[in-house]
Amino acid sequence: MIKNSDVKKIINESLSLKSEKLDEALVAQQKQFMLPTEFQSAATKKAHNELYQGYLEAFNRISAELDSVDRSDVKSNGSAYRSLKIDETYNMNAVYLHELYFANISDLASNVSMDTLAFMRLSRDFGDFDRWQSDFISCCLASRCGWAMTYYNIFTQTYMNTFIDLHSQQVPVGCIPIIVMDAWQHAYYRDYLTDVKTFTYAMMKELNWRVVEDRMKKAERVAMALKAGEM
Ligand SMILES: [Fe+2]
Repeated sequence: MIKNSDVKKIINESLSLKSEKLDEALVAQQKQFMLPTEFQSAATKKAHNELYQGYLEAFNRISAELDSVDRSDVKSNGSAYRSLKIDETYNMNAVYLHELYFANISDLASNVSMDTLAFMRLSRDFGDFDRWQSDFISCCLASRCGWAMTYYNIFTQTYMNTFIDLHSQQVPVGCIPIIVMDAWQHAYYRDYLTDVKTFTYAMMKELNWRVVEDRMKKAERVAMALKAGEM
């Protein structure tokens, strides 16, 4: 149960952030992830981490370039500003989607019981837990080099599944990522060739449900605060 005092605290924190104008470029900092899973080879883990690092460096570089790009002659075609903004979103999403993915896989003690928030919420919004799981796997298979995602929709206040193509196509408005699965070929091809389905099953056996549940609690608190503030 979320208390009114918690809602006020979130709103106040949000308002104080709004008053701090950021003039400098956005900067993302690399995080370290331990991936003890044996469902991925050491070579895949190493290559994937290097890929993540590359996206992060590109995001920071593009953010810096946006600080000084010419805004006097912006067009919808052939404009440096437009190109940088597209690359900014692409690389920023790549960074945070990878961080969300690495953090919610590779739990060797993975377990979700029927009395947990995660099980109850997914059962509520998908009819039953198996339907959520089946639909999530369908999203992995439907993605054209991209991501499957269970997200919290701040407008409907329900959990939904979707897929994202590449890093930035098909991203729903008002979504807070909850469960994120990398469905790019680089995530599985070395170990599973084209069998994305077996790869997805393997990763889902080791989902970190503690991380998932923590994200759910935060997402629902944010949605409640937004509702209280009549967004
Ligand atoms: Fe990836």
